[in-house]
Formats: sequence, C-alpha cells, structure tokens
Amino acid sequence: MELERVELKNAYRLLGHGPTVLVSTTDGKAPNACAVAWCAPAGKNPPRFVLRIGERHKTYQNLMAAGECVLNVPTRDALDEVMICGRKSGHDGDKLAAAGIETEAAKEVDAPRLSCCVAWLECKLVGKLELQGSGLVLLEAVLVECRPGVMRDDGHMDVERFPTLHHLGGGVFSVPGSVVVHE
Ligand SMILES: Cc1cc2nc3c(=O)[nH]c(=O)nc-3n(C[C@H](O)[C@H](O)[C@H](O)COP(=O)(O)O)c2cc1C
Repeated sequence: MELERVELKNAYRLLGHGPTVLVSTTDGKAPNACAVAWCAPAGKNPPRFVLRIGERHKTYQNLMAAGECVLNVPTRDALDEVMICGRKSGHDGDKLAAAGIETEAAKEVDAPRLSCCVAWLECKLVGKLELQGSGLVLLEAVLVECRPGVMRDDGHMDVERFPTLHHLGGGVFSVPGSVVVHE
C-alpha cells in the first residue's frame, strides 16, 4: 500500500483531538508497544507532543535508552491490539509476537511501526520531566505517514472513515461520530 506523507506542520492534526496511541519502541532485541491515552500536542512547528508514561513501563525504559519511538494511531478496528498493548508488559516477554501483532520498519527511527494502525509519527525524545512514578516526555515528530484517505482533502483527519479511540477509562472508549466544519 502506498502511504501518504503528512507535512510535519500538520502532524498535530492526527492527535489534537485526543486519541489513544500505541507507543512502539525497541530495546534492540525485541519490539514493544504500550497504550497511552494521555498524549497531547505541545507545539505545531516543530511538531511536538507530550505524553505521560509510567516509569516502570518497558516503554519508558526503552524510550530513555534509545531516545526515539513511534506514535502509532489505531482506530476501532485495532481495539484488541490496544488492549493487549495496554494490559501486558514487555518486561514479561515479547507481547507483540505472542499476540501476532505485526510490525514493519520505520524510516527515521529504529523503533517499529505497528501495521494495525492507520498513521505513524516517528519521533525523537527532546525532553522529560520526572514526576513521582511517572514521566512527562516531550517528543518531536521527524517523519509522519498515514494510510491513503486518513487525511481529508481539507487537511484534517477523516475520523468518520477512520474512527480513533478515545479512552473513557478501563476497557471503555468513545469513537468520533462526525466532522463538523465552521464556515
Ligand atoms: C486504553 C489504555 C490507555 C493507557 N494509557 C496510559 C497512559 O496514558 N500512560 C501510561 O503510563 N500508561 C497507560 N496505560 C497503561 C500501559 O499501556 C500499560 O501499563 C502497559 O502494559 C505498559 O506496557 P510496557 O511495560 O510494555 O511498556 C494505558 C492502558 C490502556 C489499556
């Protein structure tokens, strides 16, 4: 499938509405990914994002060691993968292989992309704030691609065709119902 490149200045349009993401990393031996609901844009140009990630997560440790990751954007079709990544830890083995979650090579980072997602933001770590038991990490996207049609002709994400997952808590989510445009 031919992917579409998203201009870096428009990367925030994939995450500005608050979807849950899958943060993929590698420790050089095995790929890993965890679910992160607490993720928000923190700058448009350069495109930056802030995430809260528990310091005990394998993801946090991989991210601190490698300084890079991929923010994978799942839709309703990938709900099972989101819950597997969000309920199992890479400390206990390769959860992606165990669940048959496919990965593919990214282009600018060593962390893998997750094939079940519809958009991929390849990111470098540019800052962190350590809080009690968790870290606020600041990421900068260096390359962003999506499946054809994810971005509408007007440059916004087509959440009607690609309904992102918005975490309400536990295993409960909402999905966007429609796009409304202020003329
Ligand atoms: C829907 C969902 C959203 C989550 N959001 C966050 C989050 O925002 N921050 C966080 O630190 N953990 C979050 N978690 C928990 C981690 O994804 C979970 O602890 C995961 O097993 C960590 O995996 P790891 O040890 O392989 O990194 C979430 C879990 C679920 C199911």
